[in-house]
Amino acid sequence: MTTTLFTSINSLVTNDESLEKGILGELANAAFIEESGQIVWVGSSSASPSADREVSLAGKSVIPGFVDSHAHLVFAGDRALEFESRMAGSQYGSGGIMTTVKATRAATDVELDQNIATRAVELYRGGITTFETKSGYGLDVENELRSLRLAVEHTEDVTFLGGHVVPEEYLGRTDAYVDLVKGEMLEACAPYARWIDVFCDEGAFDYDQSKAILQAGIAAGLLPRIHANQLTQGRGVELAVELGCASADHCTHLSSKDIDLLAGSSTVATLLPGAEFSTRSIYPDARRFFDAGVTVALATDCNPGSSFTSSMAFCIAVAVREMHFTPEQAIWSATLGGAKALQREDVGAIAVGKSADFVVLDAPSFRHIPYRPGVDLVEETFISGTSIYRSNK
Ligand code: NIG
Ligand code: FE
Repeated sequence: MTTTLFTSINSLVTNDESLEKGILGELANAAFIEESGQIVWVGSSSASPSADREVSLAGKSVIPGFVDSHAHLVFAGDRALEFESRMAGSQYGSGGIMTTVKATRAATDVELDQNIATRAVELYRGGITTFETKSGYGLDVENELRSLRLAVEHTEDVTFLGGHVVPEEYLGRTDAYVDLVKGEMLEACAPYARWIDVFCDEGAFDYDQSKAILQAGIAAGLLPRIHANQLTQGRGVELAVELGCASADHCTHLSSKDIDLLAGSSTVATLLPGAEFSTRSIYPDARRFFDAGVTVALATDCNPGSSFTSSMAFCIAVAVREMHFTPEQAIWSATLGGAKALQREDVGAIAVGKSADFVVLDAPSFRHIPYRPGVDLVEETFISGTSIYRSNK
């Protein structure tokens, strides 16, 4: 098997805590070796063993590929006018989701598939090497099922979100819709999903309805995650911890009790700066989470309504500027934090045995990501040791 040595790296983020170089395990003048899609050696350039091929990255930096643990990529249409009206003063609510449901139901399989593929290319160009994606814009058995069937062709982290909102044809009959989601819809969708999710918030599902949906998913063999406390300080986080959800996502409005619950649990808090940015909401303060010892992930929440960005670099810049992450915390949360939110042991770090998923930055270190907002610093993205995107600038 061919070995490739990447060497003379100005700054290498390993996320390997055992190196005792801060939370990012940052090494200067570093090198690593890739073989058969995996990392097989990491260390100093001056101490590197020889390899079949050698790539010098002098002056550049390398980080683990971003792990985007929360995205909604199966949809058609856009909601640019809704965004424009929000910027003029209207408020974000769950109602806009139905606009996308209508467009998604009307789209052909080919159109939906192309939309996912287009977004996936955007993710790769921005250095995301692992992503999760959800259904949730079908909201009937046929369209939820086809959303998941299409999604599994693009990622292994596929989430069934039949419990996104109550579709128009069920208005006033929420319990009947919850029964559909837990019953026929779940039965059809479970074989295609790894995860079950529900939007537990005002205008979507309450604590009891959300609990019933997640418990049905767990009984069907799916792992739970949840949209929690995005719009109101409800009981979503409480439910996440009670059911052992891998992640509670959004976490915009949390009480001190919610923070304590998360800190005493294995549930990751996934913060989504793109959503607060695009809905002009208040930002959660990351210091509350870190000070309490909560594990935090950052994700794009890429969707046509509340956060139509596929750029993790943008999310990191906003997280540092507006949510008080340190640059180190933001990079960790967007890489290893995302891996933890997806319970993936194989990604999120550049360490022996991990998948060789990494990003070469045309910058001296990861610090330039928040420091140079809006500037494309990704020179090359690798998944399993294979280059899948190279900038031609
Ligand atoms: O994560 N919060 C619920 N779902 C999405 C938004 C969906 C939409 O507005 O289309 C979110 O922000
Ligand atoms: Fe979401």
